[in-house]
Amino acid sequence: MANEAVLDPGEGGGTVDHGRRRFLTATTAVVGAVGAGFVAVPFIKSWNPSERAKLAGAPVTVDITALAEGQRLVDEWRGQPIWIVKRSKQVLDILPTLDPRLADPKSTTDQQPEYVREANPELRSIKPEISVLVGLCTHLGCAPELKAEIRPEPFDPEWKGGYFCPCHKSRFDMAGRVFAGVPAPINLLVPPHHYQDDNTIVIGVDPSNGKGAA
Ligand code: FES
Repeated sequence: MANEAVLDPGEGGGTVDHGRRRFLTATTAVVGAVGAGFVAVPFIKSWNPSERAKLAGAPVTVDITALAEGQRLVDEWRGQPIWIVKRSKQVLDILPTLDPRLADPKSTTDQQPEYVREANPELRSIKPEISVLVGLCTHLGCAPELKAEIRPEPFDPEWKGGYFCPCHKSRFDMAGRVFAGVPAPINLLVPPHHYQDDNTIVIGVDPSNGKGAA
């Protein structure tokens, strides 16, 4: 079944209302740009199993054709929010420069599938521009906020864009890597996933168990 995106939860878009949401949720942000804003994504579609099947762990297929650079799409897998963000070259260029400020810049602990770490431990994605993350803080499970703008923030005067968890002030970069000295102990998790084709991501299935595409 193809579902249309119907909700834009705004800058704190990590929160997913599981009770009322039956549709794919899309939220957008200009990632890594000054003067960011939010625009609805009108026709992002997914072919999802029933809510019961999703909670049981069934894979979720997401069409990212309409996902433009600087936008975030939010879906759900195993009852968890899944963020899919299309990052700009500016964002990708910034990520390695943040390594000295991070707790585990090379993603050495078990926070993502091995094929994601091997692809690039700093970008933490199969394709450089497409980030796929579980949108739950690794401290106590709050929903971090997307703070995409590159500008001084009250919680970090040298902020280069990323995710901020207001519960206990943990910070993550645009690859979900956790900053040093915050309560969250590890990077945001990357779920198992693969590319069925250039614009179709299957969440919950490794490339080796899919159709071989990555
Ligand atoms: S739950 Fe995110 S910092 Fe505590």
